[in-house]
Amino acid sequence: MTADKSTRIQTMFSRIARRYDLMNRLMTLGRDQAWRRLAARELQLPRNGLCLDLATGTGDLALAVRARYPTARVVGMDFALAMMRVGQQKLRARGESGLMFGAADALALPFGDAQFDGLVNGFLLRNVGDLPRALAEMRRVVKPGARVACLEITRPQTPVFRELFHLYFYRLVPLIGGMIAGDRQAYTYLPNSLTPFPPADRLKALMLEAGFREVRYRLLMMGTVALHVGLV
Ligand SMILES: C[S@@+](CC[C@H](N)C(=O)[O-])C[C@H]1O[C@@H](n2cnc3c(N)ncnc32)[C@H](O)[C@@H]1O
Repeated sequence: MTADKSTRIQTMFSRIARRYDLMNRLMTLGRDQAWRRLAARELQLPRNGLCLDLATGTGDLALAVRARYPTARVVGMDFALAMMRVGQQKLRARGESGLMFGAADALALPFGDAQFDGLVNGFLLRNVGDLPRALAEMRRVVKPGARVACLEITRPQTPVFRELFHLYFYRLVPLIGGMIAGDRQAYTYLPNSLTPFPPADRLKALMLEAGFREVRYRLLMMGTVALHVGLV
């Protein structure tokens, strides 16, 4: 089941890699990069710190971390190589050398314990087949006292806005995805992946169960995006 989901997700992101960034800007009305900057700020990396951007995709969150902490070394890991290939082009265009990409599955990270001074992930958690295991892996590879920041879409709780969001996310987004990315199926998966995903409070509880301390979250974009932060 988990392996099946992983294969489907990997194939899907490889398919939409070239239009992924453009779709993000369109779907979020250009706000997604500001959320990544907030997530980066939460890490509070030490000088020369080593940071893991898990499920880096095309590298935008990893680049936000580098912009915030110019002395940091950032490793971006993902299992969709086509996404990182798009990211690699960005690194080349910017002459960015403090960031490197590598292949990894978030459910079995190829790192020893307590290697990183911070870990960030953007829009990963909805996609993993085993959320507790992904959280446990994150906690395992981060040093005690360091921070993990998770940025993810969440269901808004205000009743009227919830209806509007539903209309936008479940009806309009697949249409835009069909027109712009040429992949209506992938942008139908996007809202559908949110349906079974735990609400922000429950995600906080899962992080605590995984052993994170002082977990807190803030809601962004009218309660449709959540930024969770926990200490190892
Ligand atoms: C919505 S994209 C987010 C990319 C990037 N973090 C961002 O902020 O735009 C989700 C990414 O998670 C990756 N992903 C999903 N499940 C994964 C897993 N189990 N291991 C590694 N990467 C995974 C996908 O390949 C995809 O690139």
